[in-house]
Amino acid sequence: MARSALLNVMVQAAFKAGKSLSRDFGEVQNLQVSLKGPGDYVSQADRKAEKLIREELMKARPTYGFLGEESEEIIGTDGAHRWIVDPLDGTTNFLHGMPCFAVSIALERNGEIVAAVLLNPATDELFTAERGGGAFLNDRRLRVAARKSLSDTVIGCGMPHLGRGNHGKFLIEQRHVMGEVAGMRCLGSASLDLAYVAAGRLDGYWERGLSAWDIAAGILLIREAGGYATDFDGGNGMFETGSIVCGNEYIHKALREVLHRPVPTR
Ligand code: IPD
Ligand code: CA
Ligand code: CA
Repeated sequence: MARSALLNVMVQAAFKAGKSLSRDFGEVQNLQVSLKGPGDYVSQADRKAEKLIREELMKARPTYGFLGEESEEIIGTDGAHRWIVDPLDGTTNFLHGMPCFAVSIALERNGEIVAAVLLNPATDELFTAERGGGAFLNDRRLRVAARKSLSDTVIGCGMPHLGRGNHGKFLIEQRHVMGEVAGMRCLGSASLDLAYVAAGRLDGYWERGLSAWDIAAGILLIREAGGYATDFDGGNGMFETGSIVCGNEYIHKALREVLHRPVPTR
């Protein structure tokens, strides 16, 4: 599988951050059982990882913009390109010693995502995609799952929690979906949820209240694996609305229909 020079730069940056996060994750696993817990340690870990990524990317393409979760946005002088980065997606899993987190790097060109790299350093899984070139897990080409009926599917979702999101709305959506599917999963890392849809592990996924850095890389992975990723209305407003629904052609449509059902009266 041939990677472009740009994708190689992104992969290198992800590996640098991944190495740093792996070291910190080892320490977190030690601190996990202590009373104080690893909280402060983790808030350093993601900032450190973002700094490494930003330095690497800005060195390779100094004129590009940079939007990362942990630092002030840099507006690029070239006007067309922007990196979109979440240095650690799945912070709560990381903090609790659970190996389900990722480094997410996407490149946007004139408002469209054209390259994506997602690395889970705990499992050594590297997901990559370039627009028009397919999506890959390490060297294996990815394809979304082929199931057509919701009753055969496992669907991922993101759950709101203390201080986040609309709990009532989520419970209604969950109630509608759970009555139609073979299983539901909540991985705690939106970017990995999307990568799992691209890899056919999850048949579909929905979540609200997300930021561009949570989903930019995953959207391209899914589309390059032959799937659909849209906002709840089937449009391209995922960054503006923070909402996303995905799956193959059939499951994406069916899931959107179920999510739009009216509030049950009893
Ligand atoms: C969070 C994760 C989580 C999702 C949250 C995100 P973070 O990102 O992706 O799965 O449910 O909405 O904020 O804070 O771990 O980078
Ligand atoms: Ca995130
Ligand atoms: Ca994060």
